[in-house]
Amino acid sequence: MNIILLGPPGAGKGTQARRLVEERQMIQLSTGDMLREARSSGTEMGKKVAAVMDAGELVTDEIVIGLIEEKLEGERAGGFIFDGFPRTLPQADALGTLLAKHGATLDHVIEMRVDDEALVARITARSTCASCGEVYNDLTKPQPADGKCSNCGGTEFKRRADDNEESLKTRLLAYYKQTSPLIGYYYAKDMLTSVDGLGEIDAVAQDISAVMG
Ligand code: AP5
Repeated sequence: MNIILLGPPGAGKGTQARRLVEERQMIQLSTGDMLREARSSGTEMGKKVAAVMDAGELVTDEIVIGLIEEKLEGERAGGFIFDGFPRTLPQADALGTLLAKHGATLDHVIEMRVDDEALVARITARSTCASCGEVYNDLTKPQPADGKCSNCGGTEFKRRADDNEESLKTRLLAYYKQTSPLIGYYYAKDMLTSVDGLGEIDAVAQDISAVMG
């Protein structure tokens, strides 16, 4: 099964994708994670996109489509969770073409709805484990008191350079201008289901599971 988790920054796409990887052995394809990896390994592409990401703007379609194309060539057992991709109409068209090329289809597009006020609170309180990427939140899921990641035991935690109120405004604007048209695009294709992303993490996971069957 191949699904898209669609939603604004902080909607909980990454959090839910990680659960699906564990529970359903799916493969998470997060273009945000791929771009951050390219940045930290200092590749030419990583250097090129760093300022764009920090400002909260979108990286070019050409770059992100190229990243996804590469991943689709590899292992695909369990299916893919597209997390943060597609984000523009050309990316959505490209994904359809790439899946068709591999004889695959998109099964569900799950929109996670969260209001803007909650997004700001979530994003500014987020941190992740530097070793395994487990996501924490100062308000709802604090880092363990013993200073060790509950998933891998790692002791280093980090915060993203674009997780500040200024960049978040630009990220939200990019979402409403460039990404939200995908809601209509997938609705017209009869693939869209919306879930309430404001509930507790477990409740949201249950709603997503119900959609996937
Ligand atoms: P990306 O990494 O994709 O960031 P994003 O879309 O802004 O999404 P986030 O990772 O911020 O949020 P999320 O929905 O995954 O939330 P999370 O689960 O962490 O992209 C970063 C940048 O890369 C972009 O700005 C752009 O520059 C570039 N980029 C990436 N893809 C691109 C593309 N396709 N095209 C062009 N450019 C691209 O949760 C957030 C917090 O909330 C956490 O602390 C979590 O613990 C907490 N939380 C989660 N769920 C709940 C809940 N139900 N209740 C309470 N708290 C919760």
